[in-house]
Amino acid sequence: MEKVLVTGGAGYIGSHVMATLGRRGLRCVCVDNYANSSPEAIRRVEALAPGTVEAHEADIRDTDALRRILATGGVTSVIHLAGLKAVGESVAEPERYHDNNVRGTESLLAALADSPVRRFVFSSSATVYGHPQGVPISESAPTAPQSPYGENKLEIEGLLARLAKDDPSWRVINLRYFNPVGAHESGTMGEDPSGIPNNLMPFVCQTAAGRRPQLSVFGTDYPTPDGTAVRDYIHVMDLAEGHVAALGALAAARDGTVMTVNLGTGRGISVLELVQAFERVNGIAIPRVLTARRPGDVAVCYADPSLARQALGWTARRTLEDMCRDAWHWQSLNPEGYRKAAA
Ligand code: NAD
Ligand code: UFG
Repeated sequence: MEKVLVTGGAGYIGSHVMATLGRRGLRCVCVDNYANSSPEAIRRVEALAPGTVEAHEADIRDTDALRRILATGGVTSVIHLAGLKAVGESVAEPERYHDNNVRGTESLLAALADSPVRRFVFSSSATVYGHPQGVPISESAPTAPQSPYGENKLEIEGLLARLAKDDPSWRVINLRYFNPVGAHESGTMGEDPSGIPNNLMPFVCQTAAGRRPQLSVFGTDYPTPDGTAVRDYIHVMDLAEGHVAALGALAAARDGTVMTVNLGTGRGISVLELVQAFERVNGIAIPRVLTARRPGDVAVCYADPSLARQALGWTARRTLEDMCRDAWHWQSLNPEGYRKAAA
């Protein structure tokens, strides 16, 4: 059975990727240090796809640990999701972010160099585009990251491009995710942010659950139809399926291939549209206050997803309603996230 090394597999996106791969008959070798996740997520993946995950608690900066894990054999490709992802934290602690994200990737590449694995899928982000000059955003749009986190993503894309240039036996796909939201349809896996959520959907869910008194809508004077900011929200299961498609594309690709592909729906949704869809689908009112813009926020950001369709044969299928229903299903079944179950 084909094995995929999944770094950061216990995280929000990684757990959905592993469950999706497992259900397709692939085995995952997960490496995670649980810096922002819980081993309970692995148990949930195992419940959905029994016998498909081999989990290792390790830091990707520990090259020898990675070498030992790879030496067990059978891994044919890598999906590299491990990383720190809080934009504000990256501004406060740029060295820690560089060390974890960029040096972590260098360590992973050093370990892989001693193995036969030459297929690499990287979790990049739409944040590399910064303030876009126009929408929809295609992969050829200029990049201008606005935070150390975004710079880390671009630096890693550069490392991978150089790697494949120097050694054309590599095949690389950088996936630039737009705004992943939602949860597994079963309600057993989902996003479990620690502390006060930074992102819109988890904040909406916690407000619906009564954990937060109200949602602050950041900015009502954007040049958009209702004045609130517009994003490309993508269901995390569509995103997970995008990784399966990327592995398929790598298997069929020529050696030396390096592709950078947006994963989004191509549809822009405003903050108020998302909140209203959530209320309608779940029958719950979300108390809200309209407040000032959040510093650094982009007005409008959505993908041109046509390359993903052409190159990966992948298109997002799930609707905004699916995202809102599945996010709330997870939140209502797991009001404390994974913590309670893990305790
Ligand atoms: P997450 O924090 O839930 O998952 C990341 C995982 O990586 C966590 O389980 C964490 O414990 C692990 N990790 C971090 N540093 C590690 C290290 N040094 N060694 C081993 N494990 C380590 O985040 P996520 O939302 O699942 O994001 C996954 C990837 O996708 C990240 O690289 C992130 O930057 C990228 N991404 C996320 C979004 C988003 O909005 N969620 C958008 C674009 C890109
Ligand atoms: N928002 C609110 N209230 C909240 C939280 C968010 O109104 O409580 C608004 C934001 O101001 C923004 C929109 O909802 O207009 C979406 O915000 P998110 O934080 O959910 O998403 P962002 O697009 O700001 O950020 C995401 C990822 C980042 C990544 C960035 C760019 O979380 O990691 O996309 O790709 F860098």
